[in-house]
Formats: sequence, structure tokens, C-alpha cells
Amino acid sequence: MSKILQLATNNPDSMLTQADVHWIELDSVDSTNDYLSRAYQQGRVSGCAVVLAHIQTAGRGRAGRSWTAAPRASLCFSVGLPVAGYQLPFLPLCVGVAVAQVIERFGVPVQLKWPNDLIVSGKKLGGVLCESFQTVSGATTVIGVGINVHPVDVPQALSGAGATSLSQWIDGSALPTVRELAEACVLSIQNWIGETQVQGISALFKQFALRDAWLGQEVVVVDEGRVLLSGQAMGIDENGAYLVNTSSGLRSVLAGDLSLRVAP
Ligand code: BTN
Repeated sequence: MSKILQLATNNPDSMLTQADVHWIELDSVDSTNDYLSRAYQQGRVSGCAVVLAHIQTAGRGRAGRSWTAAPRASLCFSVGLPVAGYQLPFLPLCVGVAVAQVIERFGVPVQLKWPNDLIVSGKKLGGVLCESFQTVSGATTVIGVGINVHPVDVPQALSGAGATSLSQWIDGSALPTVRELAEACVLSIQNWIGETQVQGISALFKQFALRDAWLGQEVVVVDEGRVLLSGQAMGIDENGAYLVNTSSGLRSVLAGDLSLRVAP
């Protein structure tokens, strides 16, 4: 097992099992990321902990955006690990690939928009928010995952090309419960963290490339409301940065949002 995941177990010789994961299931919460951050800060949890909420009233997205989740109709959970962000440099890609693979088991053709938006047929199905901070007992990383299970009314400004949901792709009788989905995602995330720690990043990068939503298309990269550059999407490089072929040459993007360029 990877050293990173050993940190989250009580028994460093064993594999990280479901018994090592402290599960908290809540009816309603402001934000699962914020709840879990407070729980680590206050020493109420340690090791690997997961918070799953059926209603999230103040969900947060990347770049300071809010995250709208339909009450009792969305998967909202966060996983905490007692490690610093720099120890998990490819975490956003790990989480995107891990969650995409779980959803694909239900026959949904998921793609990934760098670094980890979940896209189906050009529309946003879900997103990931990874945050790292210091607590009284050390560095902690919280991974928040939000997936629309039933249709959600997201303002166009937040959803870009629009939103989609699992129920638009999976028959009602085959729809998993949010707990089942969350458990499968947590296991898959742990497996991909372990894989990258032990075997390296090549398998992860290959899996991302297979699902790269905007590959070959004309894109713009926006960071904090500013268009940084535009050009053709070329995929990720060996550092996990995104390559864009601009009029002034190949540029690698480390932060920001990738969107399809709308024809003028
Ligand atoms: C994004 O696409 O901008 C990321 C969205 C992340 C939303 C999830 S829902 C569970 C967790 N709690 C939050 O407040 N945000 C994340």
C-alpha cells in the first residue's frame, strides 16, 4: 500500500479498508467540504473520513463559485485524508478518473474536462473541489465531489453549456443510491491515489487522455475572470498540466478553466 494511504489507517501493515474510513451521513449540511474541514480543525475526526449529505445548502465550487445541488437529488460528499496537498500532486486528475470510472459502470459515457469536471455529451454532470489546509494535528486534504443525480436547475453562467444528471442516462430501476455511489467513488479514489503512489502516473494520465472532453477542439483558458489564452486543446503533458496550441506556440496551463471557444 502507498505510504500516503498508510497514514490514514490505524494499522500501517494492512490495506486501507472500509473499516478504516470514518463515515458520517448527514441529512443536511452547509457544505460537506466545510463540515469536514471544521471536523478536522476541531479534532473531531482523524485519519480518513467521509461526509455524505442528502441536502447541501451552501455548496462551493472551484474558483470561488457556488455549487447548486438539488435537495435529495444530488450526490454530495467529501473525503478527508491526513496529508498535505503537495504529497498528492495529481489528486485532481486521480479523483476525476476515479469517479468517471464508477459512473461508466452504469453505462454513462463520461468525459473529463481538465482538470476534473465530469461531462456527458458536452454538459456538466459533476465537479470536484480539492482543498488542503493545516489543522492542529497536521496537514489535511479534503476532496469534495458533487454529481447531479436528478436534473438540477443551474444558472447558465455557472454550468456553461448546461447541466445533465445521472437519471437522464440511467434507467430509474438501475440508479444506485447516493450511499452506494459514494462508497464506490471513495474506493476508486483510494485505489487511484495508491496506484499513482506505487506505480507512477502513466496509467492515470492514459485514463485521463481516453476521456479528454475537449481534445483537438478550440478552447479558451479563463482564470479569475480573465482570458489567459486560446487555441487548440492538445491534452495533458508529463506534469499533468494542459497543453494548448496558441498562435504564439504551445503553452502549458497549470490553473484555470478550460471552455470551448464560442465562434464570434
Ligand atoms: C466545481 O465543479 O466547481 C466543483 C464542484 C464541487 C462540489 C462538491 S459538492 C460536495 C463538496 N462540497 C462542496 O461544498 N463542494 C463539493
